[in-house]
Amino acid sequence: MGNLLEGKKILVMGVANRRSIAWGCASVMQEQGAQLIYTYQNERLKKSLLKLVGDEERLVECDVSSDESIQAAFSIVKERFGTIDGIVHAIAFAPKQELEGNILNSTRAGFAQALDVSSYSFLAVAKFAVEKELLNENASLATLTYMGSTRAIPSYNTMGIAKAALEAEMRYMARDLGAQGIRVNAISAGAVKTLAVTGIKDHSKLLDMSQNRAVDCVSVTTSQIGGMCAFLMSDLSTGVVGDVLYVDKGVHLI
Ligand SMILES: NC(=O)c1ccc[n+]([C@@H]2O[C@H](COP(=O)([O-])OP(=O)(O)OC[C@H]3O[C@@H](n4cnc5c(N)ncnc54)[C@H](O)[C@@H]3O)[C@@H](O)[C@H]2O)c1
Repeated sequence: MGNLLEGKKILVMGVANRRSIAWGCASVMQEQGAQLIYTYQNERLKKSLLKLVGDEERLVECDVSSDESIQAAFSIVKERFGTIDGIVHAIAFAPKQELEGNILNSTRAGFAQALDVSSYSFLAVAKFAVEKELLNENASLATLTYMGSTRAIPSYNTMGIAKAALEAEMRYMARDLGAQGIRVNAISAGAVKTLAVTGIKDHSKLLDMSQNRAVDCVSVTTSQIGGMCAFLMSDLSTGVVGDVLYVDKGVHLI
């Protein structure tokens, strides 16, 4: 237990279950004294989130593929909790055919959906948070990315393109929100076995490859990723702006 985030209210978007990177982030931030609010995609995911969090008041529905849903969620957050100090965006989705084989399997509709949910949604979240005057001065926004944005990882395909878009978008957001005292960054996490990863064809090969390339051959944990997230949400990171911070035990070096 520390007090790095004492007095901070952070919105965590993207906990599906206890394996989720967002849950690793939430757990570390809670240990550091943050007050946490969570969004969930739909009723089915609400159930598992409620089991983890135990307090329905702190859970708000938000499907990031809908502007109306984001706006409604942020109105509820503001009504219940007032303004907040940070948002963690740990959300991605691509249809199955976008995550296997040849990139030419990609379809116009699948590509659009992957980019909408996995890339555009971060911008939409920032846009409506600003519009609703939800963010305190010095607020911090962070998203989760993967090195498939810069390297051609087997089967990662369209999601790699979505992550490249997300990283570029994050830099433009950092530029334009910086003037309002809001900083924006991305955490590039190493491969972790979560629900999202199991959608990728041959995901166990991807996880093995990643583990073998970690400097000590031990995969990164969601708590280690959460440590970076807590730092980025804290006042220790006010000089870190528009950056992609790797938390992958050195996999991207090898
Ligand atoms: N697991 C990894 O190896 C890894 C590595 C690097 C980056 N990431 C990224 O971390 C983030 C979190 O993924 P995870 O691996 O923890 O998987 P996860 O399945 O636990 O989380 C993904 C979340 O996205 C949410 N989501 C999908 N579509 C949504 C929508 N329309 N509206 C609202 N929420 C929606 C799901 O409900 C789920 O909570 C993703 O951006 C992922 O790409 C994961």
